[in-house]
Amino acid sequence: MYYKYTKNKYAKKLENTVLLEKLILSLKAKSTMGKIVVTHSFRGGTGKSSIISNVAACLGCRGKRVCIIDTDVQSPGVHVFFGLEPKDTKQSLNEYLWGNCTIEEAAKDVSDSLLGVKEAGGKVFLVPSSIGVNDITKILKEGYEVSELNDGFSRAIRSLDLDYLLIDTHPGIGEVSLLSLAISDILLIVMRPDYQDYQGTSVTLEVCKRLEVPNPILVINKLLPTYNFKKVANDIEEIYNCDVVAVLPQSDDLMRMGSKGVIYTIQRDHPFSKGIDKIADRIISA
Ligand SMILES: Nc1ncnc2c1ncn2[C@@H]1O[C@H](COP(=O)(O)OP(=O)(O)OP(=O)(O)O)[C@@H](O)[C@H]1O
Ligand SMILES: [Mg+2]
Repeated sequence: MYYKYTKNKYAKKLENTVLLEKLILSLKAKSTMGKIVVTHSFRGGTGKSSIISNVAACLGCRGKRVCIIDTDVQSPGVHVFFGLEPKDTKQSLNEYLWGNCTIEEAAKDVSDSLLGVKEAGGKVFLVPSSIGVNDITKILKEGYEVSELNDGFSRAIRSLDLDYLLIDTHPGIGEVSLLSLAISDILLIVMRPDYQDYQGTSVTLEVCKRLEVPNPILVINKLLPTYNFKKVANDIEEIYNCDVVAVLPQSDDLMRMGSKGVIYTIQRDHPFSKGIDKIADRIISA
């Protein structure tokens, strides 16, 4: 009985792994028009959602069409940066994954909340994850088809005519994060100057190597402004043998905003915004 259970469990796991590998391969083969940019970190709270929201605004201010998909279904938060209330997350990634709406219907045009995007002829969309407690528990309990998520990515790029699809992930090495890493054209690995992050980033980079992620780049966030930014970037580049695209300061202004709003659109000359510009330069030149 025990043998049968473990055998079935193993077979199921193997089947899932094979399916995921097939999916990743088919995705890699399918070269989409718009590029996929992913933010990831091994540990939580590094600043992924803050960075991707600001990068979206920055690209929008450069006339690009972008869409963020908040794949962090267990602890969503990106909607807060764009002033969406919990009721605005009803039509969400969850509803798309449950087959109740299309990905375009779940995508909200948040360009109006971002000064400078409209003027530049850009567009910023957001597919939020639902913040409703029933939706979160349902999706965690029942799970969903990762292939559906994947189809949603491709469809969003096509139907919203995107230059860039930006995927925000849950921290750590889960199934959806692995998929997002594997299909990324540009992967922004966000880390703080913290020993937990140092170890975690090594793990992420090892996974990237195995998945043959084409463009992993490090972003250091929350560095104390008194530090020598150049030296920290150089040291980390040497340790990880990986480019550091930007070093973003620990900022009282961001803490005061408390995730309500996108600093790039209100203070372009802020040191955090300048780092965001560097990230956008790299994305555009990739
Ligand atoms: N450079 C910064 N200076 C000060 N506060 C920051 C900075 N970057 C982000 N924060 C703050 O840190 C907190 C976590 O940021 P954020 O939600 O972007 O992280 P995350 O990596 O997406 O977290 P999670 O892993 O939980 O999804 C937020 O309160 C945000 O305002
Ligand atoms: Mg987040």
